[in-house]
Amino acid sequence: MLSATRTSVARPANTLRLTAAVARCQSTWSGVPQGPPAILGITEAFKADKFEQKINLGVGAYRDDQGKPYVLPSVRAAEKRILERGLDKEYAGITGIPAFTKAAAKLAYGADSPVLNNVAITQSISGTGALRIGGAFLERFYPYSKTVYLPNPSWANHKAIFNDCHMDVKTYRYYNKDTIGLDIEGLIADIKEAPGNSIFLLHACAHNPTGVDPTPEQWKEISDAMKLKGHFPLFDMAYQGFASGDTNKDAYALRLFIEQGHQIALCQSFAKNMGLYGERVGAFSILAESPEEAKRVDSQIKILVRPLYSNPPISGARIASEILNNPELNAQWLAEVKGMADRIITMRALLKDNLEQLGSQHDWSHITNQIGMFAYTGLKPEQVDTLAKEYSVYGTKDGRISVAGITSANVKRLAESIHKVTQ
Ligand SMILES: Cc1ncc(COP(=O)(O)O)c(C=O)c1O
Repeated sequence: MLSATRTSVARPANTLRLTAAVARCQSTWSGVPQGPPAILGITEAFKADKFEQKINLGVGAYRDDQGKPYVLPSVRAAEKRILERGLDKEYAGITGIPAFTKAAAKLAYGADSPVLNNVAITQSISGTGALRIGGAFLERFYPYSKTVYLPNPSWANHKAIFNDCHMDVKTYRYYNKDTIGLDIEGLIADIKEAPGNSIFLLHACAHNPTGVDPTPEQWKEISDAMKLKGHFPLFDMAYQGFASGDTNKDAYALRLFIEQGHQIALCQSFAKNMGLYGERVGAFSILAESPEEAKRVDSQIKILVRPLYSNPPISGARIASEILNNPELNAQWLAEVKGMADRIITMRALLKDNLEQLGSQHDWSHITNQIGMFAYTGLKPEQVDTLAKEYSVYGTKDGRISVAGITSANVKRLAESIHKVTQ
């Protein structure tokens, strides 16, 4: 018996593999369909273009005036300080590094905010992870609705995130293509028409992809309309400080809604304002009614996070924490954020000036009225195509350009190219 078993075990490995393959007939994954190509299309086309003065306006990351990725000096200084401390690599708690989350909450809600003790907050895998935890929490605990209303258009990943959280996704009017500005009437009408207690996702500042933000008065109108219908505001704040250059000013809408008595949830990202893209630093928070309620919410956030990834990575959060908690580094960082925002604002103005100097008959005021990393130019898909094919200027089909891709050296050629395709 024993020897018979031994004989079968001793069969050559390749015979065994062959037998298994024949029994299965085909690969386990033969039914997996090919997904659509990722949006890396522009990057690929840009890379393949041999023209030396080609311009990439498709990237979603800040570039300096030489067109290079930018590591903030405050980030370098924080890294050095952390390294010198020789810290260990132990796990963080489920909700991350408390010094980081406390400081992130202060940055968003305001250092003197009276509601800070009612905030349940967790570190997250950047803004995307914050949205994903938010979706999971709302899906599990929001008592009224499982539908999230997104602005039309919105960051493309929003829909995918909430769908994957088993939420329904609908849109509300946001962008008016005729004015290349905010469709405030449509927005308010859609808030009024949505069933009471719906969830509305709001871009806190620097709306992606349009760069169109409501004015303070319009935010007030939006807040009033949402209050009347009992809608729940879920803020996505991926660009605090990056829009105006002032972190307090960019938190205006969030703080206004809280002042007006809304209970809110908030997704924060430190990818753009600290340039910590690949470090994946973010936070998700919920404003509860009391510290006791915040504690219960916190316990449920932990239950959600634990089976997802146990606890978040520590490196990026340590850097952000150092910058937020050290007064000197914090002042340096605030100046650097302002520097990035100012460069973007300057490039917008330069692009508009250049187009006007070329005699363009179009009204380009939307370029400077919009804010943040992205500008909705109003260019049609055919014009975007021509820009790429004939002028080696690469943007997305919807006419969105990343202003971070504009530099003092390329703005003139960019304006000339845009002028030629819009004449
Ligand atoms: C509106 C918006 N939300 C969230 C994110 C999330 O980015 P990350 O996960 O890199 O923080 C982005 C990134 O482009 C964004 O534009």
